[in-house]
Amino acid sequence: MSASQTKRTLVTAALPYSNGRLHVGHIAGAFLPADIYVRFLRLKGVETRFVCGSDDHGVAIMLTAEKEGRTPKETALYYSQKQKASFDGLNIKFDVYGGTSRTANHYKTSQDFFTRVYEKGYFEKQSTRQFFDASKDMFLPDRYVTGTCAYCKTPDQNGDQCENCGKMLDVDSLLDARSVMSKTPATVKESAHWFLDLSRFEKEVATWLESSTLREHTRNYVSGLLSTGLVKRAMTRDLTWGIPVPLQDPDAKGKVLYVWFDAPIGYISNTKELCEMRGESEEKYADWWKSDDCDVFHFIGEDNTIFHCVIWIAMLSAEGSFKLPKGVIVNQFLNIQFPGQDQEKISKSRGTAVWIEDYIASGANSDVLRFYLTSIAPERARTVYKPEDLVQRNNSELANVLGNFVHRIVSFTHKYFGPQVPEFPAAKVNDTDRAFEKRLLETHEKLTQHLEGFAFKQGLETIMEFCRDANKYVDEKAPWTTRKTDMELTAVSLAYGLRAIRYLSVALAPYMPDTAAKISKTLCIDTANQRWDDALKALPAGSPLAVPEILFSKIEDKEEVPTSA
Ligand code: 2FM
Ligand code: ZN
Repeated sequence: MSASQTKRTLVTAALPYSNGRLHVGHIAGAFLPADIYVRFLRLKGVETRFVCGSDDHGVAIMLTAEKEGRTPKETALYYSQKQKASFDGLNIKFDVYGGTSRTANHYKTSQDFFTRVYEKGYFEKQSTRQFFDASKDMFLPDRYVTGTCAYCKTPDQNGDQCENCGKMLDVDSLLDARSVMSKTPATVKESAHWFLDLSRFEKEVATWLESSTLREHTRNYVSGLLSTGLVKRAMTRDLTWGIPVPLQDPDAKGKVLYVWFDAPIGYISNTKELCEMRGESEEKYADWWKSDDCDVFHFIGEDNTIFHCVIWIAMLSAEGSFKLPKGVIVNQFLNIQFPGQDQEKISKSRGTAVWIEDYIASGANSDVLRFYLTSIAPERARTVYKPEDLVQRNNSELANVLGNFVHRIVSFTHKYFGPQVPEFPAAKVNDTDRAFEKRLLETHEKLTQHLEGFAFKQGLETIMEFCRDANKYVDEKAPWTTRKTDMELTAVSLAYGLRAIRYLSVALAPYMPDTAAKISKTLCIDTANQRWDDALKALPAGSPLAVPEILFSKIEDKEEVPTSA
């Protein structure tokens, strides 16, 4: 896989449903890797926009609203703001964070999109049979109806799939169906919907699959879907919450767009909102969506794969005026394991989650969580979050290896050479120093390749290996011993050590922005116009040094970081 070499890149992170708080699984899935990539692209000088926002429509938001006694709109706003605060607390910095229920722009963009696909003749209107609550005069979405599975006779199943036998359920196979709303028996009623026949876009999806940037598991999964053939999917719903279907047809009355139709269009409408925020013309958004010198990358979690890699590709192909994404970067799920317990899925209802809000409120270092989540990133397979492992890695890697290296080099320099980079005679540079410099150059090359290839976890491992070698270098050069006999030799060791620290101040910036900023401050470097390859520039002798801050404190008491819901 290779990253965008174009002039501009638009990066999106999956719009989270605004009906709950964010946990570590959400962050590890889409948002953190997207943020790392954006920070890297910017350091590389690529003009980049980072777009996200909340996904406000759909049944999930309606159910939460009902449970919590708010309207769906209030619910969406409430959670969207909470989620935004969590992102801010972790330094995940979107250029725009919209909400799909918040702007006329998103309604219009979605309706115009639907209308274009309609006018091109890609929708098929079909009558469907659906559960209906006569007492409330409303159609019942899958999650609003319960009954008994006709296949295995398990009671209390929802209208979509039996939890016991896994069979798909519909109006004919959910017996004794009752409305969750009124508890009265559900009836069955006909309703017309607009279907997109995905099989008409099999060729487009297959071609896109060949040319796009995807991880292997994603490519295999989508190939599997294509090999069994694509089907028709309804793009409209009988709901009161959503974007009205923009058709004059009497059957469209009271119907809204399917949430998975309007959600990805949110990437486009949020880009428009961003242009507006920047005082640019509305049409400027096309530079990001319709121009050949811009690449679009979507970052998502595995459960969103079919929607981005099949339905969205079919939707864009049907509409016809937007570019297809250059890549979709998918992370698998993150499971969780609390001390002395089995590994399990992160779940709000079972209380098996670590909430970002709690982590931030505890005062814990946001970079520690960014570091840990990247070091266990589920890039190729599902991985496990272990609260104790975070503590252990903070202490053994961040505090002992990275923090300690920076601290000991800078304080030692202060003590014996004053607050500046020491000068040294070239003749005192030996093979150990040269080997260390070579190691730094190789690290840069390797790290760049990993970041360009979306291998964020390997990139971080590369940096940590370098930090371990940097400690070994200093141990071998032993400036605390040489300073008794040879100050010039000591100056070389410290200058090379400072060069490594300078390197880390840039290399770490995509991963741990606060830490990188602290290191830059210690080196008195202005980072405003910093570029990726500046990492390799040694600071000239005499450059000022500030007093080093402690980068990572050891976590002595495990209660200092939140471990459960
Ligand atoms: O899974 C989710 O949380 C969805 N709301 C993701 C939507 S991504 C995009 F299409 F908006
Ligand atoms: Zn069953």
